[in-house]
Amino acid sequence: MQVLLIGGTGLLGGAIATELVARGHSVRALVRTGKHIGHLRTLGVALEAGDMRDARALRRALRSAPAVITTAQGNPLSRATPMRQIDGAATQQLVDLARQAGVPRFVLVSALKADVGAAFVPQLAYKFAAEQVLQASGVPYTLLRPSSFQETFDDGFAPFKRIIERFGIGMTMGSGRGQHSFVAIHDVARAAVLALDHPAALNQIVPIGGPDDLSYRDAYRRIAAITGRRITIVPVPRPALTLGGVLGKPVLPELGDFFAFFRFFDRFGYTCTTPGWLVTALGSRRNFDTAVREFYTSTP
Ligand SMILES: NC(=O)c1ccc[n+]([C@@H]2O[C@H](COP(=O)([O-])OP(=O)(O)OC[C@H]3O[C@@H](n4cnc5c(N)ncnc54)[C@H](OP(=O)(O)O)[C@@H]3O)[C@@H](O)[C@H]2O)c1
Repeated sequence: MQVLLIGGTGLLGGAIATELVARGHSVRALVRTGKHIGHLRTLGVALEAGDMRDARALRRALRSAPAVITTAQGNPLSRATPMRQIDGAATQQLVDLARQAGVPRFVLVSALKADVGAAFVPQLAYKFAAEQVLQASGVPYTLLRPSSFQETFDDGFAPFKRIIERFGIGMTMGSGRGQHSFVAIHDVARAAVLALDHPAALNQIVPIGGPDDLSYRDAYRRIAAITGRRITIVPVPRPALTLGGVLGKPVLPELGDFFAFFRFFDRFGYTCTTPGWLVTALGSRRNFDTAVREFYTSTP
């Protein structure tokens, strides 16, 4: 199948590109800059230069009516790509242009609890609005809603591993008692690619998480047990998150919105039941302990 991938330079998007190529799909990726394209180049993915906020670039990328997978999200730590624009307006525009182009399938990587969380977390509100636009568009779709990635505890997008290694501290944003169905990025990538043509995924909301449900506190205990490190749990109280967002607003306007995510996790948890058809189709999924061994084996 011909697939246009948006977000291919990101963590999940890169894993999806690998999976698409491994499954024999013909992949084109919309990329903004020369940054982080090495992996896509190595895979032999065709690159289409453009910003997803640019309708002309999107029309060009959609010209042969490929199936679409998007994982794109804004960055609350950068003023250049606000979540409001990327998860919000640009994703909605992408859906509209995909409808006009007549794409056969649209897989939107959203986030778990985008519906109930929309009232509490701005990024979930943007994602939920985009989900609704896609559902109303008439384009055959799958809304993939992952729980938190296991890679939260690896090097990369979150600082938690560095804080463990430097200070022996397991930092929790809020109490750290909310449970998450931590899931491997690789398993989410496999689900996104399966969703392109699995009949059970057609026009469905598909939560994906697990196989383990753990709180941040549980996760640190597992990391300590597996690595033999002593980890002291240090919670950042919820009011401090709120204050941090307010104080950071002049420099990073969406920081408070981002912290709202952590308050939401802490209060409501972030667990799900992955549908049976997907569990079967995926076969084995990486569990949390295996992930920890992979992330921390090179730790001195
Ligand atoms: N992290 C989690 O635990 C978690 C849980 C549930 C759901 N999710 C969702 O999963 C998805 C993938 O997460 P991730 O960690 O892979 O994200 P990521 O690494 O931050 O990747 C975001 C991607 O979006 C692209 N992008 C941003 N602005 C763009 C623009 N204007 N035009 C074109 N591309 C643009 C980025 O491209 P550049 O390289 O050019 O910046 C990058 O490829 C996100 O939607 C996220 O909300 C994550």
